[in-house]
Amino acid sequence: MTEKPTFYITTPIYYPSDKLHIGHAYTTVAADAMTRYKRQRGFDAYFLTGTDEHGLKIQQRAAEAGMKPLAFVDGIVEGIQKLWQLLDIDYSDFIRTTEKRHEQVVQSLFKKIYEQGDIYKSEYSGWYCTPCETFFTEHQLAEGHVCPDCGRPVQMAQEESYFFKMSKYADRWLEFIEANPDFIQPESRRNEMINFVKQGLEDLCVSRTTFDWGIKVPFDEKHVVYVWFDALVNYISALGLGSADDSKYQKYWPADVHLMAKDIIRFHAIIWPIILMAAGLPLPKKVVAHGWLLMQDGKMSKSKGNVVDPVVLVEKYGVDAIRFFLLREMAYGMDANYSEEALVNCINIDLANDYGNLLSRTTAMIEKFLGGEVAPGSEGTEFDAELLALAAQTPEAMAKYMDKVDIANAIGEVWKLVAKANKYIDDTAPWTLNKNGEREKLKTVMYNLAEVLRQVTILISPVMPNVAAKVWQQLGLSAEAAGQDWQALKWGGFPAGTKICRGEALFPRIDWEAAQAEQAQAEPPAEAELPKAEAAAMEPVKPEISIEDFERIDLRVCQVIACEKVKKADKLLQLTVKLGNEERTVVSGIAKFYQPEELVGKQLVLVANLKPAKLRGIESRGMILAAGDGENLRVLQVPAEIGPGGSVR
Ligand code: ME8
Ligand code: MG
Repeated sequence: MTEKPTFYITTPIYYPSDKLHIGHAYTTVAADAMTRYKRQRGFDAYFLTGTDEHGLKIQQRAAEAGMKPLAFVDGIVEGIQKLWQLLDIDYSDFIRTTEKRHEQVVQSLFKKIYEQGDIYKSEYSGWYCTPCETFFTEHQLAEGHVCPDCGRPVQMAQEESYFFKMSKYADRWLEFIEANPDFIQPESRRNEMINFVKQGLEDLCVSRTTFDWGIKVPFDEKHVVYVWFDALVNYISALGLGSADDSKYQKYWPADVHLMAKDIIRFHAIIWPIILMAAGLPLPKKVVAHGWLLMQDGKMSKSKGNVVDPVVLVEKYGVDAIRFFLLREMAYGMDANYSEEALVNCINIDLANDYGNLLSRTTAMIEKFLGGEVAPGSEGTEFDAELLALAAQTPEAMAKYMDKVDIANAIGEVWKLVAKANKYIDDTAPWTLNKNGEREKLKTVMYNLAEVLRQVTILISPVMPNVAAKVWQQLGLSAEAAGQDWQALKWGGFPAGTKICRGEALFPRIDWEAAQAEQAQAEPPAEAELPKAEAAAMEPVKPEISIEDFERIDLRVCQVIACEKVKKADKLLQLTVKLGNEERTVVSGIAKFYQPEELVGKQLVLVANLKPAKLRGIESRGMILAAGDGENLRVLQVPAEIGPGGSVR
């Protein structure tokens, strides 16, 4: 039997704070989705997370609470594990730095490096930020003489300390980075790290004597090991390095991916590899830094008090939607702005409108036209080839991104297929096939749609682990029949003759404005329950105008002959429209609701005599009429028998 290839991914080990926020959740959800994805692809995937429990900050907080540090963190750690459970985080192991198995490895590495002369005793003096557990030199401090990371006051600290000879390894580190150009991802971070090291590495202070909540330096017990030296070692201590059973270490190390946000890339990309070099251990394969989730007032962080609690969001919107949103929204290596409204938009557009609707339209038509049975027909349509070609390409396109841990773009590839399938419904018009009695074609179209749904659902299930079961139920498939790994993606895996079983909307639409209005009224603030779409209030009618006023507006039928996205403007589409024999450019804020190709050929209504306006440097002549609101907008369409140029009255 051949062994499965392995994949080892880690998140940072989190500081035990009472409330982890959705920024922390982003990293664990991303690592979890990566793990599930690798398993689907036949890997033996191992996923480690945990908690970073030592240091002065914890000692102080425990003292304030009148508790021993360990008892103090125990309760918090339990809360963190519950949170991960709630978010369907299927980690392989959870390491706590207060565990014996961890302490032993930290001590033995510290001792080994000391004995070979790379850790030495000296005197430290510098500016220390207690919340960040970091020393800074004078010139590293931010304006106002505060911590450059968190902006809080720093204290001058002076103490006898052990130092790690980082400087000695700078050249080796640079050589390693040269030889392994993919080690630090994304590229921008790599350049940042290289510049940092080229400016010269100073030796790192790796012990403290002013507090004792930490791992003791084994040969000098008045010192505790610096928390970052302690914490980083978790990635190998959890695998049992040096213990009686080190089979996990043998199997999974070196790690394939250390995942984290950009704020701690320096520790992972520089200090950690140098510790490993000094210890004579293999280096991880990749260190990937994602961006931050930002609130309007900056990075979401506990110290700023602007955190969003994932528990509340999961109760309100469900775990799959939250996971999807986090992973879809955070572009590779970039920061992402968080707002609940953006979350609701994502649910309404990507999940309710695109994916959910595809399922409900498909199952409704199978039921209505085919008595609920799915089986390919003996004839196809001219639109089949393109849909099948895209379905065949999508897994590879997705994989290309997943393998870089670019999950947002990977989801984007799957959603292209979702969009294509929705368009395929419009193109093939199954209702017309039904009316015309073209039953064989109709069967093929419905089969293709059911099969695309099966494929999309397999591909997206690492992101939304509970969705597959619901979709299989509606499609009348057992989990075995549907398949779950990538081998099941072979086209045609949907068993012919399956009876579907229509169900509720997969992701019900959320009426954000009504929810806001209700929340504003409620006393005390309303709990999760959201009102239904019908409850939305009508906007007040504008003041009366005369028929003459109305006639000054020249409304025309226009046909879209080309359409593209406006660069760097995620709301705008640039349309080329035909009115009679005139062609014009119109810019319209509908990019969130339509793929450009969906609009081509459609006949729309244009306000033809609107004063031209420049949008992103493009002159827009006229305005396309559309109905709806910021969450759901549809253009007004004119039937084909009215040609372009005709006026609208
Ligand atoms: O740094 N946006 O722990 P920590 C995105 N114990 N991700 C965020 C985030 C945000 N606004 N806020 C936090 C520590 N994160 C150390 C790590 S590892 C050996 C020791 C995520 O509790 C992100 O992954 O402050 C970041 O790297 C991590 O939480 C920091 O968690
Ligand atoms: Mg932090």
